[in-house]
Amino acid sequence: MSAAIQPSEQFRQKALLNNDRLHLSAQKDRLGFWEQMAGELEWFKTWNKVLDEENAPYYRWFDGGKLNVSYNCLDRHVNSPRRNKAALIFEPENGTGATYTYYQLYRKVNYFANVLKKMGIGKGARVVIYMPMIPEAVIAMLACVRIGSVHSVVFSGFSAGALETRLNDLQASLLITVDEAYRRGKYIPLMENARAAVDNCKCVEKTMLIKRGSREIELNKKNELWYHELENDIPLYCQPEAMEAEDPLFILYSSGTTGRPKGILHTTGGYLVGVHTTFKYVFDCREEDIFWSTADIGWITGQSYIVYGPLSNGATSVLFEGTPDYPQKDRFWEIIEKYGVTIFYTAPTAISTFMRWGDKWAEKRDLSTLRLLGSVGEPIKPEAWSWYYLHIGKERCPIVDTWWQTETGMIMISTLPGVDKMKPGSAGRAFPGVCVEVVDEKGIPLPAGENGYLVITTPWPAMLRILFNDPERYESTYWQKFCGKFYTGDGARSDEDGYIWILGRVDDVINVSGHRLGTAEIEGDLVEHQAVVEAAVIGKDHQIKGQAVSAFVTLKEGVDGSEELAEELKRYITQKIGAIARPDDIFFATELPRTRSGKIMRRLLRDIAEGRAMGDTSTLLNPEEIETLREQYADESK
Ligand code: WT7
Repeated sequence: MSAAIQPSEQFRQKALLNNDRLHLSAQKDRLGFWEQMAGELEWFKTWNKVLDEENAPYYRWFDGGKLNVSYNCLDRHVNSPRRNKAALIFEPENGTGATYTYYQLYRKVNYFANVLKKMGIGKGARVVIYMPMIPEAVIAMLACVRIGSVHSVVFSGFSAGALETRLNDLQASLLITVDEAYRRGKYIPLMENARAAVDNCKCVEKTMLIKRGSREIELNKKNELWYHELENDIPLYCQPEAMEAEDPLFILYSSGTTGRPKGILHTTGGYLVGVHTTFKYVFDCREEDIFWSTADIGWITGQSYIVYGPLSNGATSVLFEGTPDYPQKDRFWEIIEKYGVTIFYTAPTAISTFMRWGDKWAEKRDLSTLRLLGSVGEPIKPEAWSWYYLHIGKERCPIVDTWWQTETGMIMISTLPGVDKMKPGSAGRAFPGVCVEVVDEKGIPLPAGENGYLVITTPWPAMLRILFNDPERYESTYWQKFCGKFYTGDGARSDEDGYIWILGRVDDVINVSGHRLGTAEIEGDLVEHQAVVEAAVIGKDHQIKGQAVSAFVTLKEGVDGSEELAEELKRYITQKIGAIARPDDIFFATELPRTRSGKIMRRLLRDIAEGRAMGDTSTLLNPEEIETLREQYADESK
């Protein structure tokens, strides 16, 4: 284990927190702690009870309380000296950016909310936002929550098929998208995808388009509308809806162990308390900070720490549309220099990529405004940690390695930057008011140093409340395995200081560049291809991406496993799900290795894909196949 590193004295002295008082107060009275944190927001009506556990695992937080998230993110600051402070700094891929003050953002959101209302969108309606990283995406989110409709942001890298599944599952009535999107200067057919998806979704009554490009576009008059044409004659102000604390706020889809993505539902009060508090203390948020999370708003990191966490704290948040290597590999450092970013939050996969590109790109730029760095999405390798610490933070900036999930809504494990020492590769201790354990197969807590399953033992405010339309799956996925403790799906061990070392997923979920993919989802799509009979997908270790998708497939009689077919299957998956799910390799097999009970032996496939020696295969139904598979692998990887 590498040595622990203390945050610099300079950082500690100025930090919001430089002692253990938050941890101690939460240890003494966990619910009292969360109640106190909730008091930092503005409620229209105060709650009757902090936590209602009667109907577990359907927990209720701040029941009886009423509030509005958009009010807390905007109006509250507009009525304060933050009125003219920058809320969002938008840096587009190309061209000039724009800064929105709290007042300007407030105006835009009020307009947008009134447009939605005029279209008949009301409380509880589901609205899908399928947009690139542009201010209108954030404005649309805040407008939805202002009027009490429930948004679901679908990552703009997803294909028409993935969008269609989500629209139908949600029974969404409105889709908001753009006429044009770009990536690395190339046009992305977002609108065409949207049209293809809507064609197969009866529920979607209207598609609202934000105009970005200059192309002449003929809209389908029946169900497509331009936002800018609706914006006229719209009142300036839209009264924020007083929402119950437990009213749904948004649904975000995430991959699980079956083919169908899970609609993870977050509610209003608890979620905002959770992200508000964690943003403030994990990122040591100060009035003058410029915070930049490089995540996409299509993922939970973007929702919680580009939008709701920063804005509820009245912070300045950077929204970047582009990629780290366009036009040049110093794009991130250029942005930090340009705006004087003080807190920078990114993913280990990005850090590994920068490392590979070499030190010179960051050296050219002034990074002296940075004071804190963050990491999220996958375990960070100690070498990447050290590079980040040295070359970006110049040994001056603490690093917070934040562990959490779409389900948790908020950061759950992290060091507090002015309080805790850092151990490269470990996320640190549980956040105040959060209780985690590492347990064995039976749910019994393990001593420090032993590998087991990471569970969360008590409810936390930003927890998911249900899987949309699927209470059974909610109960069986998270709560049954360890009798009422929340099962995270991650393996971990703790150490003598209570620091958690995450080992990665232990279920059939893989993590590619910090994006969660269900192996079953990719398998389900592969077998829909006419040439494929069976498919098994695994995550193979990858230097940059953490894991890469490898697919083993068996083919229909008479079909040959050619290189062309492998390429076709890769394209097929890109079309079905999106480029993030594109397999790095496709292996053709005559049969897949299974246990006697018929379960595909993924561990073995992983061994084969990574070229490791074989373990014990005596429980295999068809051990001879493994030899064949192994030989094939050896041939193909030559
Ligand atoms: C999974 C959740 C939460 C935002 C990004 C991903 C992995 C997340 C860390 C970390 C090690 C991490 C876990 C987790 N993960 N953060 N700091 N160290 N692993 O959200 O798509 O819901 O994925 O990402 O495996 O279960 P998500």
